[in-house]
Amino acid sequence: MQLRRLDGAVALVTGASSGIGTAAAHRLARAGARVFLTGRDPQRLAAAARSAGGTALPCDLVDPERTAGLVQRVLDDTGRVDILVNNAGQGYAGALTAMGDDQIAALVAANLTAPMLLTRAVLPGMLARGRGHLGFVGSIAGRLGVREEAVYAGTKAGLSVFADSLRQETAGRGIVVTELVPAVVDTPFFDRRGRPYPRRRPRPVSAERAADALLAGMFGNRSEVCLPRWMYLPIAVRAALPATYRRLAGRFG
Ligand SMILES: NC(=O)c1ccc[n+]([C@@H]2O[C@H](COP(=O)([O-])OP(=O)(O)OC[C@H]3O[C@@H](n4cnc5c(N)ncnc54)[C@H](OP(=O)(O)O)[C@@H]3O)[C@@H](O)[C@H]2O)c1
Repeated sequence: MQLRRLDGAVALVTGASSGIGTAAAHRLARAGARVFLTGRDPQRLAAAARSAGGTALPCDLVDPERTAGLVQRVLDDTGRVDILVNNAGQGYAGALTAMGDDQIAALVAANLTAPMLLTRAVLPGMLARGRGHLGFVGSIAGRLGVREEAVYAGTKAGLSVFADSLRQETAGRGIVVTELVPAVVDTPFFDRRGRPYPRRRPRPVSAERAADALLAGMFGNRSEVCLPRWMYLPIAVRAALPATYRRLAGRFG
C-alpha cells in the first residue's frame, strides 16, 4: 500500500515489537514519519526499531506510571505526537473461572487502560494543533463476544466504545479516530495466549495486510475498518437481530 507522505510527523506505535505493530511502524517510517516504537521485549523491539529506522522505547503497558511516562519521553524529544497507534494487546483463552486476579488485571491494563492513558496524554497537543490521528486495534471478539475469551472480548468492546465516544467528543476539531476490527491475523498472538486458532474461517491475513488496512483507514478518515470486510455482516446481524444472532452463535459457535 502507498501511504501519503508523512514527512515531519511524529508517530508512536504500541505493540511494535511484533506482528501488526511492527508492520505499521515500518509503513509509517517508509512514508517519512519519525516513528517511536514501544513493546516489552527489548531485543525484538530493538530489532524492529532498527529495521524501521525508528526509536525503541521499551515499556510494559500494564504499569500505568510507565505508560504515562512513555508519551512524555516522546514529547521531551520531539515536542509532539501526531499519530498514535494503540495496537498492543494480549489475549487469553480459557474459562473465566480459571483466570487469576493478576491475569484479568493485566489484560484490562494493557488492552484498555493503557490506550486510554496514552490517548489522554497525546490529545491536548493534537487539539491545540487542530489535527491528529488516533488508531485503535480492536477485535471481532469485542464486537461479537467469544466463548472462553470473555475478558479479552470485554477489553476490546470497551476499546471500541472508547474510540466511538472520543470521536464524538473531538468532532470537528481535526482529530481522526479509527478502529481496526480484525478477525484473524497471522502473528504470534495465538501461540502467546496458549491456544492456537481453532477454525478454518475466517482465514488468517498477514500482519502487513492488517497494518495497511488500519493505516488506510486512519489516513482515509474512516471510523472503522473490518478485516476481512465480510465481518461487517455478523456485526450488523448481531446489532439488528440480537436474538437471531445468539441462536446462530449458539449453534455454530
Ligand atoms: N492476531 C490476531 O488474530 C488478532 C485478531 C484481532 C485483534 N488482534 C489485536 O491486534 C493487536 C496486535 O496483536 P498481534 O496480532 O500483532 O499480536 P503479537 O504479535 O502477539 O503482538 C502483540 C504486541 O503487543 C505487545 N504487548 C502485549 N502486552 C503488552 C504489555 N503489557 N505492554 C507492552 N506491550 C505489550 C507485545 O509486546 P512484546 O512482544 O514485546 O511482549 C507485542 O508487540 C492486539 O491488540 C490484538 O489483540 C489480533
